[in-house]
Amino acid sequence: MQLNKLFIGGEWTVSNSDEFFETVNPATEEAIAKFPKGTKEDVKKAIDAAQSAFPKWSSLPAPSRGKILFKVVELLRNEKQRFSLLVANEMGKAMPEALGDVQEAIDVFEYMAAEGRRLFGHTTTSELHDKFCMTIRRPIGVVGLITPWNFPVAIPAWKLAPALICGNTIVFKPSSDTPLCALELVKILEKAGIPKGVVNFVTGSGDVVGDEIITNKKVYGISFTGSKTTGEDILKKAGIKKVGLELGGKNAIIIMDDAKLDLAVEGVVWGAFGTTGQRCTASSRVIVHNKVKQKFEELLKKRVTQIKVGYVIKGADVGPLINETARQKTEKYVKIGLEEGAKLLCGGTKPKGKGFFYHPTIFTNATPDMRISKEEIFGPVLSIIETNSIDDAIDITNNVEYGLSSSIYTENMKNAFEVINKVDTGITYVNSSTIGAEVHLPFGGVKGTGNGTREAGIEGINEFSETKAVYFDYSGKLQKAQIDVS
Ligand code: UN1
Repeated sequence: MQLNKLFIGGEWTVSNSDEFFETVNPATEEAIAKFPKGTKEDVKKAIDAAQSAFPKWSSLPAPSRGKILFKVVELLRNEKQRFSLLVANEMGKAMPEALGDVQEAIDVFEYMAAEGRRLFGHTTTSELHDKFCMTIRRPIGVVGLITPWNFPVAIPAWKLAPALICGNTIVFKPSSDTPLCALELVKILEKAGIPKGVVNFVTGSGDVVGDEIITNKKVYGISFTGSKTTGEDILKKAGIKKVGLELGGKNAIIIMDDAKLDLAVEGVVWGAFGTTGQRCTASSRVIVHNKVKQKFEELLKKRVTQIKVGYVIKGADVGPLINETARQKTEKYVKIGLEEGAKLLCGGTKPKGKGFFYHPTIFTNATPDMRISKEEIFGPVLSIIETNSIDDAIDITNNVEYGLSSSIYTENMKNAFEVINKVDTGITYVNSSTIGAEVHLPFGGVKGTGNGTREAGIEGINEFSETKAVYFDYSGKLQKAQIDVS
């Protein structure tokens, strides 16, 4: 198997490391590609290349940067099928979801390409005569992008597209579970005409490659999606860099006694078992009204037993977990759930044979304080908790350290608005699952989910730009703010 290269200063470059790692198809456990374990020297070279490319790229008019991003859109569209197969093979998600992953990347590049003709600031009044006030956006400089494996094309795109349109140059470290998807995306950027040095790509470990990106003084911004522990570590090490974090979730779906239960069941199945539960937006708790709990559970169990777990290329609905460590984490939580006294409604086992598969698992009679109801599992495990009122359901929803996504199924507008106003999450869905964010709305969460930044939409532009306040005094005399005010 051929060893892949790094992309530094516009050249496919051999790493100065002699160590490598392999990426594995999680359904077959076969190795599919080999990548260098990049070194700190590799990262420094990449950062220097990004720094050299910055003046020219940042001074290119934003609509011209946009034209290159539109080219990315076109190339991705043409290669959607090939990319989706790669996503399914390297990451394991089902084909419709793999197609969705690539489509999300297309959408975000399209949104950000068009942003080249906006990148709005504000104009405003001045407290003084003959003085004009406005804000403009400027790029941050060299930014480091560190991305996860669960959306191996979409999440890199969420970061690359806004970072590029704002005029930043980039050092990109993908997850070591899905570097091939990332490499193919970089090839598309190269083909679209991104100038040399603007995007640099270094594979390797978080401890070495990630650490150098985070601590290097020439990097002014970091955008990271991944675990809370790593996010906290980044914040500690990054010092005063501008850091955007998108961390975990323990997202709940509330089902009230007036909900359309068939609709709720579909939303729960999609949210809990889509992507094998490996989304930060995954629905890992259902908080269901006691009046409909039994009926809901019957319908849910019937629906879940129809799910086909297996190799998605051969048509399965739910693929494997990303690796054996992730499967063991799921197994550990199933054991914890049983020890805590929750009752298995279905699942709790893994199929025999190759691949990191695990059956969709549902615990019922979970209580809000059980670990399975509070900790992020990132696997196909759902906990059902009973409630008797909207206020209680909201308290349970908020009884976790995370705050990414939430959902309520109800036909009652008051219930819906109670959740919209009182649930501490960055996203709320009404009569829909906790997953499925669209790229023109802000994405991110409160509490343990992040540090206040949002990705995608106009807030994605905020993440990758600095605002400058401009005071333009054309009075021809010294005017003192706060003092010469008439
Ligand atoms: C994630 O799991 O980190 O809303 C991102 C969703 C997707 C993005 C998920 N569009 O579920």
